[in-house]
This record gives sequence, structure tokens and C-alpha cells, in this order.
Amino acid sequence: MNPATRAAWKSLAHAAEAARDVQLRDMFAADERRFASLSVRWNDWLLDYSKQRVTTASMTLLHGLWQTADVPAWIARMRAGEAINYSEERAALHIALRQPAHKGPILCGRQDVMPGVLGELDKMQRFAAQIHGRHWRGATGEPISDIVSIGIGGSDLGPRMATQALAAFRHPELNVHYVANLDGADLATALAALQPRTTLFIIASKTFTTQETMQNAASARHWLVQALGEAAVARHFVAVSTNLAEVARFGIDPENAFAFWDWVGGRYSLWSAIGLPLALAVGFDHFRQLLAGAHAMDEHFFSAPPAENLPGLLALLEIWNCNFLGANNRALLPYSQSLGLLPRYLQQLEMESNGKQVDRQGLPLDYTTAPVLWGEAGTNGQHAFYQLIHQGGRLVPCEFIACRQPDFDLRGHHEKLLANCFAQSEALMRGRTLAETTAELAASGMTAEQVALLAPYRSFPGNQPSTTLLLPRLDPFNLGALVALYEHKVFVESVIWNINPFDQWGVEYGKQLAGRLLPVIVGTAPAEHLDSSTAGLVAACRGN
Ligand code: F6P
Repeated sequence: MNPATRAAWKSLAHAAEAARDVQLRDMFAADERRFASLSVRWNDWLLDYSKQRVTTASMTLLHGLWQTADVPAWIARMRAGEAINYSEERAALHIALRQPAHKGPILCGRQDVMPGVLGELDKMQRFAAQIHGRHWRGATGEPISDIVSIGIGGSDLGPRMATQALAAFRHPELNVHYVANLDGADLATALAALQPRTTLFIIASKTFTTQETMQNAASARHWLVQALGEAAVARHFVAVSTNLAEVARFGIDPENAFAFWDWVGGRYSLWSAIGLPLALAVGFDHFRQLLAGAHAMDEHFFSAPPAENLPGLLALLEIWNCNFLGANNRALLPYSQSLGLLPRYLQQLEMESNGKQVDRQGLPLDYTTAPVLWGEAGTNGQHAFYQLIHQGGRLVPCEFIACRQPDFDLRGHHEKLLANCFAQSEALMRGRTLAETTAELAASGMTAEQVALLAPYRSFPGNQPSTTLLLPRLDPFNLGALVALYEHKVFVESVIWNINPFDQWGVEYGKQLAGRLLPVIVGTAPAEHLDSSTAGLVAACRGN
């Protein structure tokens, strides 16, 4: 059903209209308990959304959206292994990948997926033990010192982001590198410092047909074979895929292939064998803690009412900002160097999932879905794009993430980091009026003329909404829960927007055209069918 036709949606539209001229600073001044009523705790996490442009009344209306879209029924469908990814006729059972062994079966059709999941995890653990214990030897008998993971999109971003996020837990003797881009510069620079004798490649691709990954894998294979000969491939290549036939065709020993399943979407696959490079980077115990954190968030998501449900709250606030206040973007601002790749990871998770044009019935949407997600680790972003957020005149809902404890404890750093994070959300909320700025400048000893000239430049409109998520620390458990939080947020949004978050047909057309253009670029097909711009670009590359 089109959500915009629901009564709850219409009430929210009225509430947004009524709140149009209300300022966040006035809402704080009017209600001392605003933080207490608009923040929630889970474990030792705190989600403060009191700086969003909501009231307890508009939140109640938003909770109504959760009920009328029947989010609990959709959660039940997901857990029951129904083919909720109906355009690909697949279940979406990433929750099974982090369910502990004692919790019983999860069915996909009539089959319990848990034995396969647990078996593959054990196989990963045995492999990690061989690498870490230096029992796995390369073709010349030397142990492995460097892992190169080759994959792209969902087969790259998750483990890459998490490896950086858990830098404090890194295995001391193993270096893990990631290569994704089709541009040869990515692989060439990664290989420049490596020795074939001590390097192991993980080829990670759900389909094992993705052009970028297959080209990088072929070039890596060539680099290795040139140095060590064809027979070395089996000791230096392993694969992670759902397409084990293609893996075997590449020359990888089936013993060294790690499987996952079509009910795991690429961008939801960190928890599967796609996480193998991460498990090697941080150790298998830490990988299991990551799964445990994600599972704890699953349990919270399945059971908490909307007013306390962290993924639900984030989803409802985004819907409020986008569909009712008119925001078209969200800035993700982790005050954590280690979470520096989180914006990039969430770009795929959120925009590939919910950037959709038709609803579950195939009808065109007349309301907006996923906003443009962007961001960067604080404080770096402060010295780049915050100017626009403060004074650029656009509505930019911000999401701050901070940790109470540092993951690298250098004296004097962390308190300053937290001060900057909280100061930014305060400044965005409060702003500074022309009168306040004028008074402040006058008090600083400026002449009246200088004050009049500078005050407009130095005033801030404020009223920019933000949420702050405060974690106790960045460790494998909390990281797992954080990623699962966003997975479920995306799911709740998709249910309310009545779209399928698990397909991604929009990325196919460009791939198809690239396939048609390649023969034109290499000169084996004519350029006749091309538009003049594309033909002109091809001709310029060919020196014509
Ligand atoms: O970008 C499209 C996409 O299909 C993603 O959804 C996926 O994560 C990525 O390509 C990589 O696909 P594969 O794992 O099959 O190589």
C-alpha cells in the first residue's frame, strides 16, 4: 500500500506543517526534560535524538507508521525465510549468519540453513588457524605474511570497513590488503610492496562473474604464475562465492573455496565467508564477537517496541526528515578515525537497498525514498564541508557517532574529540542570532562599524537536526551491533516505503552498456549506434 495514503502519513504531514517555524533552541528552552524524553538507551549505548525537529507528539505519530505498515509482520516474514526479495525470488536471511548454534533452526523453504552456516564458519576458523599458526605454506614452503582480498561492492566494503574499524585488534604478523577498483592502479600499488612467495589472494565474489573482480583476479594470477609457476596457484588462491563451479574453473581447489548462499545479499554478507579477510586481520575470536554483537542487535530489533527500538527510531527519524521536512540527504559523521570507512559502507547498504523507483506492486513511487548519504570522519570533515552544513542554507540532517572510550589511547586526544563532536551538534541546533553575534562582537572591543560589517557573516541560523549515537567503545561486539543496527534501519524504512530493499536492478544497465562499448573502444566494433557524445569520447581515446 502507498504509505502516503495512510491516515498516519497525513497526520504527520499536518504535524510537519505546524512545526515549520518552530526552532530547536526554543524547544529546548521550553522543555527541560527534552533530552530525557527524546533519548533511549540499549545496553550501554545512548541514542540522543532530542536535537531532531520532533516532539513527543510527532514521535507518537511516527510510531503509528511502524504499526500501520505492520513492521512486526515483516520481521516475522524475514525470520521465517519467506522470499521477501520477491523480484529475485529469494529470502533475506543474513540474520542466520550470526545466530548462535544453540538457538535452533532457521528455515529457508523447508531446509534448515543453520548446519551449512555453522559448518562454513568452522571451515573458516580452521583456515584462519592454519594461516595464523604459520602452518599454511606457500609454494616455496614459506608462511603467508600478506593477504590480498579482491572483491567489490558488498564483497569488499564490509570487511574493508571493519578491518579499519578494528585496527586496535589487528593480528600483529599478518597484513591484510583490499583491492576493488578496475583501474589497474589499485592492484598494481597493492602488489608493489609484496612478494609472491608470501602472498595469499582471497577472491571474493558472490557471482564470481563480476568484471572488476575477475579482471583483478586474472591479473593477480598472472603476477603469481610469472614468479612461481602455474602449480603455485593452489597454495596462493582461495575463494569465497556462491558459484563454486566458476571458482573451480578459475583453478582454485574446492577445498579452499568458502561458500555462502543466494539468500545472503551482497551488501548483507559481511557475516558470511565474505568476512574471511576480516577474520584473518583481527583473529577468529574477534570475528565471533562481531557476530555476537550483530545477533544481540537482532534480538533487540525483533522484540523492542518502536519507542525503544534503535533501528526503528533511526528509520522513523529519517522518514520524518525526508518525507515530511523535505531533506534529500543525510551526513554521517563518525568522530572516530577507525570508523572512517563507515560512510562509504553505508552508502552501499542504504542507497543500493532503498534507492528505488517502484513499490512492491511495481507502481511508480510518488514519495521519496533513500536520501543521499555522505560523510567523513570528524574532525576532518569540520575543516572541509561543515561550512555548508552551518551556513549553506540547506537542510542537512546529521548523524554523529562517538565512543566514550578511545580505541587508541593517546593522552589528550579523546576529550578534545568528544568536545568537538558535541560542540558541533550544539552549534547546529542552537545557531547564533544576529543580535547575539552583534552583542558578542561588541563585547570583544570592535567598533560599531566593524560589528555591523561582520555580524551577518558570523551569525548561524541553527535549527539543523542531528542525532548522536554514543557507544561505550569500538570493539568487535559493538561494531557488529552497529552494522546490524543500520541493516535493520534500512529494512524498516523499506517496509514503510513499501519497496524491496534486497534487489539492485539499477546497477545493471551501466554494466550492460559497458559490455557493449568495450569492443568499440578496442576497435573491433563500429561506433555507429552511439550518441555523438559517447562516440566523441571513444574517438578521442582512440586518438581520432
Ligand atoms: O554493485 C552491484 C553488485 O551486484 C553489488 O550488489 C554486489 O555487492 C557487487 O555488485 C559485487 O558482486 P559480486 O559479489 O557478485 O562480485
